[in-house]
Amino acid sequence: MSDLSIGIDIGGTKVLGGVVDSAGAILATSRRDTPKEGGRKLTETIAEVANELLQSHDVASLGISAAGFISADRERILATPNIAGWSGINLKEELSTLVDLPIFIENDANSAAWGEAVHGAGKGSHHMMMITVGTGIGGGAIIDGKLLRGAYGIAAEFGHMRVLPDGHLCGCGARGCFEQYASGNALLRHVRESINASPDLAHNLLQRGNGTVEGLTGKDITEAARDGDPVALAAFNTTAQWLGAGIASLAVLFDPEVVVIGGGVIDAGEILLAPTRTAVDRYLPFSGKHPTPKIVAAVLGNEAGLVGAADLARQ
Ligand code: BGC
Repeated sequence: MSDLSIGIDIGGTKVLGGVVDSAGAILATSRRDTPKEGGRKLTETIAEVANELLQSHDVASLGISAAGFISADRERILATPNIAGWSGINLKEELSTLVDLPIFIENDANSAAWGEAVHGAGKGSHHMMMITVGTGIGGGAIIDGKLLRGAYGIAAEFGHMRVLPDGHLCGCGARGCFEQYASGNALLRHVRESINASPDLAHNLLQRGNGTVEGLTGKDITEAARDGDPVALAAFNTTAQWLGAGIASLAVLFDPEVVVIGGGVIDAGEILLAPTRTAVDRYLPFSGKHPTPKIVAAVLGNEAGLVGAADLARQ
């Protein structure tokens, strides 16, 4: 039987599929934008990506890495804060009618954590935590070498731990969730807030994108920060403060050896990581009196989710 598996990662902005071998190498990829309307259209887009990859490779299984709360039986999307029309669907059943492969479904950040644990930055560590910083914040925890799933399938939803009572309203319906302060969307919010407070400072930043505050993307902010733009750098620092404070709390809960940061925003590398490490040191309870986890960038980058899902589907 073929050792090839397809992994497809579904996020708020993209559907990224790849054919992955048992060593974690990606042999081919296929990508689509996440359809804005989500729902059935999104399920069909996933099937399209899978069937396209299936045509050119002899594949034995399909692993889906999906942003959302997944049922304990790994069949249904219980709820998704950042994707429209997908909450409550039986994804496994729907996809089974469109793709002729055994299907396994896992949360996107859990998949990324698994990918990094087996083939990436967490290799060799039995105590690892993954945080994906993208549209939302995803979390995954490897405890004693095993992926933590919890009693009802939703363990390690770090993005929805409340960091500020009565803070910003989150897509999940609660207020003050971590992902409202430390995600890619939060980075953009921090930028908008500084521009509103001091419009003169934003002149250089607004030369990017389509010239409007609303049109700025995470990529624009990262490029501006690399060029030393003060508004972009301040937004990264604010995001890193929240991220570091969150990691400090999670570190005393899970005691990881390594915390891997992935998701689109990690493209900024040390611009995000350096102030995050400083913030972790500042906020960590009994800081300096016990070993601190290493905080590193995902080695598999944006492909961690698809590699992890492909690997989980193979098992
Ligand atoms: C969702 C998670 C997901 C994360 C990253 C969060 O809003 O609740 O399930 O892992 O975003 O996509």
